[in-house]
Amino acid sequence: MRIISGIQPTGNYHLGNYLGAVQSWVKLQDQHESLFFIADLHAITIPQDPEALKQATFDKVVELLALGINPEKSSIFVQSQVKEHAELAWILSTITPLGDLERMTQYKDKAKKQKGELYAGLLNYPILMAADILLYKAKAVPVVKDQIQHLEFTRNLAQKFNARFGSTFEVPEPLVPESGGKILSLQDPARKMSKSDPEDSRLSLLEDPDSIKKKILGAVTDTGKQITYNPEKKPGISNLITIYSLMGGIPAKDVEKKFKNKGYAIFKKALAELLIEKLGVFRKKYQELKSRDLYIHEIIKQGRMKAQSIAESTMEDVRKKVGFLPL
Ligand code: TYM
Repeated sequence: MRIISGIQPTGNYHLGNYLGAVQSWVKLQDQHESLFFIADLHAITIPQDPEALKQATFDKVVELLALGINPEKSSIFVQSQVKEHAELAWILSTITPLGDLERMTQYKDKAKKQKGELYAGLLNYPILMAADILLYKAKAVPVVKDQIQHLEFTRNLAQKFNARFGSTFEVPEPLVPESGGKILSLQDPARKMSKSDPEDSRLSLLEDPDSIKKKILGAVTDTGKQITYNPEKKPGISNLITIYSLMGGIPAKDVEKKFKNKGYAIFKKALAELLIEKLGVFRKKYQELKSRDLYIHEIIKQGRMKAQSIAESTMEDVRKKVGFLPL
């Protein structure tokens, strides 16, 4: 089965990006034909410095490799290098009711936060995301719960297009990690960990050991002393248990057992040590790969060629179905 997923190049990747997305991609690439891309077209819905964007896009490919995406098994490509994403997004926008876009939770949240002018790109973001997926006729999309609405939107568009122009697109299924995948802010466990939130609320994957220790020891936890997994009543400590469980590869139940009656301080210290060890391996790989410019560019090129060949063939069909004069 073919799967596809994307990640934006802006900001430092944090634990949420890894544990919610990339860690499962690394597992999925062994079983499926996998395509992963850097969503730079999505990133510009928020103003970007052009030089910084270019560098970040390259760096993110390095990060994906350092995290375990294997270019022999997966294709990694840059979204803006495959022009068909923008082309299909335009066509899909002509069958998307405005109301459907205005109802999207992510749009409403971002629009509220946005100071000054609101741009159409932010509203149209889900159409581009639908194009990303439908272009590759992917059967499944690895996502965490907070992206399910975008996938539902994509499924609707696929069905609508198919009904109007004849069977063209796969209707993709969400592939949600067993844990649900959502990692919460270290400072406010009512919110998810996010690139746009304050520095001490998230843990970057490139964070140095001192800073990891400081942030984990300073993470907001709940009243009480017991290390028990209860996301409703104890969201703070449950979030830390999830992180320990996913980073250490042991079930949450076993984390509870391991730290029974030990208290928060001991548990937090152990979690910080685990993170320092695991992220240390990642940092080392990242530094090694970052200097291999030619190798990275070759991977991006191979990824683009693979993505392009699928995207071109889908668009040939789409153009025909819509009634455009053949090239
Ligand atoms: P982005 O770049 O915001 O995030 C990339 C992935 O990381 C996940 N993620 C989290 N998972 C768990 N806990 C968190 N706190 C957390 N924060 C982020 C996201 O759910 C995502 O899987 N719109 C997408 C990029 C995209 C895409 C696509 C994804 C563009 N086109 C097509 C799938 C298919 C985004 O902004 O991801």
